[in-house]
Amino acid sequence: MENDIRILITEEEVEEKIRQVAARVSADYRGRTVHLVSVLKGSVFFACELAKRITGPVTMDFMSVTSYGDDTKSSGVVRIVKDLDDPLEGKDVLLVEDIIDSGRTLHYLMDILKGRKPESLKLITLLDKPDRRVKPVRVDYTCFEIPDEFVVGYGLDHAQRYRNLPFIGVVEHV
Ligand code: IMP
Ligand code: MG
Repeated sequence: MENDIRILITEEEVEEKIRQVAARVSADYRGRTVHLVSVLKGSVFFACELAKRITGPVTMDFMSVTSYGDDTKSSGVVRIVKDLDDPLEGKDVLLVEDIIDSGRTLHYLMDILKGRKPESLKLITLLDKPDRRVKPVRVDYTCFEIPDEFVVGYGLDHAQRYRNLPFIGVVEHV
């Protein structure tokens, strides 16, 4: 059976919000190069849309991580599956996330990135589910805070599907 998707945030709302947050990033990083670090695969859609709307210089790099643990709960211990191409030393790094849930994965990842001595390290996320937080994470830019519902679209998947939806939706029948 096909799942029904209920739209939570429309394509227009997402794009308007990304435009606004990109303007803030452009102002905050004036005179510097923003080095966007995107974690595959979920954050890639957001990272590209963000990059297009930042007015100053931007570089991008990608990494892929898996979290040890069972399917329902990330342990937060992260294994790097594909590492970044370039060192972070001296760079103004902006880590791009699709969604912050428990914060376990991110907490660990921020420690790994900090250890690589960037000039600065900030965090931007498309979505945040603050009610679900187990590990504290300092988020510098949030596009949308959402309730504790499982969402898909704009890079977010359910069993690898729905990443290509241009809006954020909730899967009604799984
Ligand atoms: P955590 O913050 O360590 O619990 O894990 C966050 C990761 O769980 C995200 O990067 C997503 O891959 C996944 N995730 C959490 N909530 C959702 C959701 O609502 N939809 C799709 N993936 C989610
Ligand atoms: Mg996922």
